[in-house]
Amino acid sequence: MSSQQPIGIFDSGVGGLSVLRHVHDLLPDESLIYVADGAHMPYGSLTADEIENRCRRIAGFFTDQGAKALVVACNTATAVAIESLRRDFSLPIIGMEPAVKPAVEATRAGVIGVLATSGTLASEKFSGLVRRFGSSAEVIFQPGSGLVEQVEAGDFDSDKTRELLKAHLEPLLERGVDVLVLGCTHYPFLTPLIQEIAGRSVTILDTGDAIAVELKRQLEKNRLTAVEGSVGSLQFFSSGDVGHSQSMISHLWGSSVAVEKLDE
Ligand code: DGL
Repeated sequence: MSSQQPIGIFDSGVGGLSVLRHVHDLLPDESLIYVADGAHMPYGSLTADEIENRCRRIAGFFTDQGAKALVVACNTATAVAIESLRRDFSLPIIGMEPAVKPAVEATRAGVIGVLATSGTLASEKFSGLVRRFGSSAEVIFQPGSGLVEQVEAGDFDSDKTRELLKAHLEPLLERGVDVLVLGCTHYPFLTPLIQEIAGRSVTILDTGDAIAVELKRQLEKNRLTAVEGSVGSLQFFSSGDVGHSQSMISHLWGSSVAVEKLDE
């Protein structure tokens, strides 16, 4: 394995771009390949076996591209498939973990909320996280049904998105939540609207920055960090509609990017 090889990062769609941003900012020398599995989005509507198969297929694509490390930039895929990926693939694999621990440390009210897909909330991995770190606060879960689809449609602040968010946030706010964990990588794109609805007294946490730091640590530990001053490349692939992916990714990334087709 050479330090100049790329790092693979994937999500069911554009949500993982919120993680890619942190990785790109922290590790500008690294070459990054991003896959949006748009043809199979949302993962929340797939069975665990189907999600595992998609993750294996994409990890295989990354290893064919010579990836030296892999970031599962999707909470749902991490919750369901990261153990089996780590069994089947020998490269360092970094996954998402909802920010329950920092939220419990930050709450003054002693009540935190977790907004995530129902797949993440129902997973054994998430229950274990709450058992380990959540015992000193009240932890309230809320599935963010429909929010992934709104972000994929580029709809960040329409009346429909606003109403959906209000319906998801009200039960949390009524219980006195003062720290809100975004447990899905699509949701940071809704942060301005979430903050507006929840009010300034609610702290919003996501883990994109922590994942980038963990990736850096793993690269250093495995002596895989790119040579300083290398010019890192950035490539995008989508299994879904390439035209739609290209305009959405360019919009969210903030510059015009080319998206190539990932054969399913
Ligand atoms: N971004 C994914 C996550 O973090 C969305 C999952 C989905 O496609 O349902 O959970």
